[in-house]
Amino acid sequence: MARLPDLISPSILSADFAKLGQEVDNVLKAGADVVHFDVMDNHYVPNLTIGPLVCDALRKHGVTAEIDVHLMVQPVDQLIGDFAKAGASYITFHPDATIHVDRSLSLVRELGCKSGLVFNPAASLDALEYVMDKVDLIMLMSVNPGFGGQSFIPSTMDKLRQVRKMIDDSGYDIRLEVDGGVKANNIKEIKEAGADMFVAGSAIFGAKDENDPNHYDSIIKAFREQLAEAKV
Ligand code: DX5
Ligand code: ZN
Repeated sequence: MARLPDLISPSILSADFAKLGQEVDNVLKAGADVVHFDVMDNHYVPNLTIGPLVCDALRKHGVTAEIDVHLMVQPVDQLIGDFAKAGASYITFHPDATIHVDRSLSLVRELGCKSGLVFNPAASLDALEYVMDKVDLIMLMSVNPGFGGQSFIPSTMDKLRQVRKMIDDSGYDIRLEVDGGVKANNIKEIKEAGADMFVAGSAIFGAKDENDPNHYDSIIKAFREQLAEAKV
């Protein structure tokens, strides 16, 4: 099956929150495709971040790119509704964070968003078995969720190949996203293992251009060059 075009999704977790609108504008101007929006509740993960108000504020600021909302919260249904209203494009959640996975996935689509399931490094993929027709996106965590700046866990490569095969066998146009520790020196291998959507937080927002500290062109360009070299 033909691969979907690559999407680069900077995680704003590593952006400067004091000037978030500007940071998002800059990273999109530098060529990013999607805005990855990490929602943490200090319950499902040991950290606390941003909610629907901030998503709504980015829309009001004028962000028209897709917003990829990654829910690391438990439970999920209330926030699915709130984020759909706040302008989310994708809403993904972890299957162990909701009692009724099928219902929560259906809710995302009913509210007009693209749905996705996220799997922690040690999580089995069993939850996908009966819902392949209800996901637009599958995301593999290549770090344990909760923090930016961690190292890519190598066993994710085999898991990516496994999910790539499941997607190809299903015949659905499901995106395969990877989240955590993505850098210019591993993104090519990650694409070759099956991913077509790449979250990167610290690699992008940590890469300031000395002459132009608000712009991220060179790191996005380096990602694109590496992706173009991948053999798939
Ligand atoms: C971790 C988050 C990631 C994180 C990625 O829980 O889901 O999106 O921001 O950050 P890096 O790219 O720094 O690993
Ligand atoms: Zn994330």
